Amino acid sequence: MLTVRDLQALREAVAAFRADGASIALVPTMGALHAGHMALVEAARRPGTKVIASIFVNPRQFGPNEDLARYPRREAADARLLAEGGCDLLWMPPVEVMYPRGFATNISVGGVSEGFDGAARPGHFDGVATVVTKLFNQTGADTAYFGEKDYQQLAVIRRFVADLDMPIAIVGVPTQRDDDGLALSSRNIYLDEEQRAKATALPRALGVAARAIGRGDDPETALAEARVALVAAGFEVDYVALADAETLAASPSADRPRRLLAAARMGATRLIDNVAIGSNS
Ligand code: PAF
Repeated sequence: MLTVRDLQALREAVAAFRADGASIALVPTMGALHAGHMALVEAARRPGTKVIASIFVNPRQFGPNEDLARYPRREAADARLLAEGGCDLLWMPPVEVMYPRGFATNISVGGVSEGFDGAARPGHFDGVATVVTKLFNQTGADTAYFGEKDYQQLAVIRRFVADLDMPIAIVGVPTQRDDDGLALSSRNIYLDEEQRAKATALPRALGVAARAIGRGDDPETALAEARVALVAAGFEVDYVALADAETLAASPSADRPRRLLAAARMGATRLIDNVAIGSNS
């Protein structure tokens, strides 16, 4: 696996892949890789495809009081995992390559990015949309893979790719979970043993509510019960909400795909999760 940190070298490597007739699949990450990221790499590996993973802890998507400074960084271990997982190229630009002096452009997506995490984390999805646009342009990828765990992020990316006619296919990969149901996340390492045990209430509460709503129970009652279950487990609830699976609009029609989304704080750690209504995912 080639590791590349400057744009010229990346462009040359991508041109060599193209000269061999390969298509390019991109797996964007912020590092601290776990099995959820490796499922993206696995999904991206196809005959005739070269897989590029990026690791860039993007300062523009962290709020002033968020965990940018202490976000886990494990470059050597991440590079080993990616090489073992069959990744062909690791794109690891320094901040000054991604945002050179004078950088002044912002990609801002309306609608789908406004509620939920967009409301709780002002500017977060502008930061995501801006860096993901740059990663698409830098790599020239044909396809990019994102986890459904960050469901709103995936919906925002699908929106701007469609709106801006970007020639790239976006693939969502189902959330990977520990045996007890907790969604894999780089932030799970912030939880101590007791918090980690209590955190299983999040997927449990979402599962119970999704099944209830799926069989036609009143959504507001199911959401209220989920909030009560989370508080009882020691969570401080940010939101538990039902939304249209594509637009994330509230009060979705039951004849369209719907998604149940939640964010809640266990101690200082903010966890998010989501499930489809009408399936077990
Ligand atoms: O999901 C993430 O790890 C990040 O938000 C992403 C997509 C790599 C953009 O920085």
